[in-house]
Amino acid sequence: PVNWIRESAATSTFCPQKDEPAGICWDDLGFGLVETDYMYSTKCSDDGNFSKGELIPYGDIKLSPSAGVLNYGQGLFEGLKAYRTKNDSILLFRPEENAARMIMGAERMCMPALTVEEFVEAVKLTVLANKRWIPPPGKGSLYIRPLLMGSGAVLGLAPAPEYTFIIYVSPVGNYFKEGLAPINLLVENDYHRATPGGTGGIKTIGNYASVLKAQSAAKAKGYSDVLYLDSVHKRYLEEVSSCNVFIVKGKTISTPEIKGTILPGITRKSIIDVARKQGFQVEERHVSVDELLDADEVFCTGTAVVVSPVGSITYLGKRIPYGGENGVGIVAQKLYSSLTSLQMGLTEDTMGWTVEL
Ligand code: COI
Repeated sequence: PVNWIRESAATSTFCPQKDEPAGICWDDLGFGLVETDYMYSTKCSDDGNFSKGELIPYGDIKLSPSAGVLNYGQGLFEGLKAYRTKNDSILLFRPEENAARMIMGAERMCMPALTVEEFVEAVKLTVLANKRWIPPPGKGSLYIRPLLMGSGAVLGLAPAPEYTFIIYVSPVGNYFKEGLAPINLLVENDYHRATPGGTGGIKTIGNYASVLKAQSAAKAKGYSDVLYLDSVHKRYLEEVSSCNVFIVKGKTISTPEIKGTILPGITRKSIIDVARKQGFQVEERHVSVDELLDADEVFCTGTAVVVSPVGSITYLGKRIPYGGENGVGIVAQKLYSSLTSLQMGLTEDTMGWTVEL
């Protein structure tokens, strides 16, 4: 039987908090927004210095209709998770990596950014203020969504004169409606996610808007999501709408190299390290779409999707199935277990990746 950790036995010994949110059913969590108590907010004007951030009640924000983010898409986001352990402590996973990625993206988008220390501090504050919304162990996690946007008014195309940084959170379960079952992908031929020299390698909001059309069409045909090819050769794998992709052949795991058109996923980077530690050879390189035919397994990685096994990929009308027991490949299963047990505090964190609150 497939041994995913989510249904961990740890739940039975967990004592719910007195102030657990009314009406929440931890067993029903998917990846939809659940409004929580507080969000973090800070602003920065032309001088590049952010004001002292504060926690404010979660709610709508006021924006000028001519805000840079609304008119010209000057915005970035991040995603990370907090897990509650069976000892009722809270673990963040590599938050400084999200901070560094936002700094890199802000440079590309002509925006000021918080320092790594300020970012991590803001994440900690927001998580602690919303502690009661962190699901019990084995039931999910608290998804943390930092946003950086040009909130100042512009009319002509230019960087905004003011920026707002916000963090909001939501308890989440599995990302795909398939839950932990394998997902079915469609290789996209007409649309591309990114071009060389563009912004594919940063977490700008526009990258996600641009995939919606192909993703909706694929979902309407019953697929879980779309796998993109590079826009120059139309031949090399890039990524899925919301996650990175890996293929497995024997003891070798390959994933598209980071070259400006691929999002440098933190889960991607972590899985590469975990796999190498477990004796796999991991190659970051051009991965041709033809290699899908020959692969033993394919899986996706991302903060939201964690490690998702792929059950089939359809390319030019041909469906390529991937096997394993219940369709779940053993390599994906092993890497999922190793990563999540570390993130949930079930095994010792020898990598030094978790931050305890
Ligand atoms: C994440 O995995 O955290 C992301 O930012 C992807 C998003 C589409 C949910």
